[in-house]
Amino acid sequence: MLVSATEMLKKAKAGHYAVGQFNINNLEWTKAILLTAQENNSPVILGVSEGAGKYMGGYKTIVGMVNGMLEELNITVPVALHLDHGSYEHCYKCMDAGFSSVMFDGSHYPIEENVAKTKELVAEAHKRGISIEAEVGSIGGEEDGVVGMGECADPKECKAIADLGVDFLAAGIGNIHGKYPANWQGLSFETLDAIQQLTGELPLVLHGGTGIPADMIKKAISLGVAKINVNTECQLAFAAATREYIEAGKDQQGKGYDPRKLLAPGFDAIKATVKEKMELFGSVDKA
Ligand code: 13P
Repeated sequence: MLVSATEMLKKAKAGHYAVGQFNINNLEWTKAILLTAQENNSPVILGVSEGAGKYMGGYKTIVGMVNGMLEELNITVPVALHLDHGSYEHCYKCMDAGFSSVMFDGSHYPIEENVAKTKELVAEAHKRGISIEAEVGSIGGEEDGVVGMGECADPKECKAIADLGVDFLAAGIGNIHGKYPANWQGLSFETLDAIQQLTGELPLVLHGGTGIPADMIKKAISLGVAKINVNTECQLAFAAATREYIEAGKDQQGKGYDPRKLLAPGFDAIKATVKEKMELFGSVDKA
């Protein structure tokens, strides 16, 4: 059964580790992540962007697929199904469809409007036992066609949003989605520290987990990050493994064209990436 992400992230923050949010794109992604979480006895959050939701045939399709896998693959570790960077409307759609967690990304609204909409959604989510993430300070890079510059959040604004009762908070600290450019300045630990001083026990979320060096990940966890989002890294691993299979001509040998064979190397590559992240984040054996 899906669970909200509140408990697992409270435990993570108190225990000084982070739970990975791995974004899903299809059945292979979902199965690879769930099996890896189970094998490593780790809690996990499946992230779904609005674009991926549309691609997979809608939120109800995803809820059906994930719930089916939890039961038939005997997944007993805590699993949350979470809308990633949701608009106001899509937060409602996902709550209605059976998601156990949503992120309302109001970072592009003026702070007053972000506050008003977040407040309403927090009340609605909590009424239904669903966890909710909010964002302050836009995360850079490209996400579903929206390009942000990777700003640093204002700690006072973070405190204002935290006080609305959100369960965990994404704050921009110079992180960006996708690959980091060669001239990237790194994470602003000064900002992160200032945010944690004001928000206390609230679990903080680090988006753009792909390509952040291990030492920065560890430092971010030590300063209150309890959820780390990873998307691009699984995509790169999947693409590289699939490329290798095709370039070796394996799709043309025997029944190598069978999707169950063709997609197997990519599936294994996602599993390896997720396992590596769970080890780095410290969530292994924390289910
Ligand atoms: P990456 O694609 O950079 O790993 O970021 C994922 C993310 O933050 C999803 O919200």
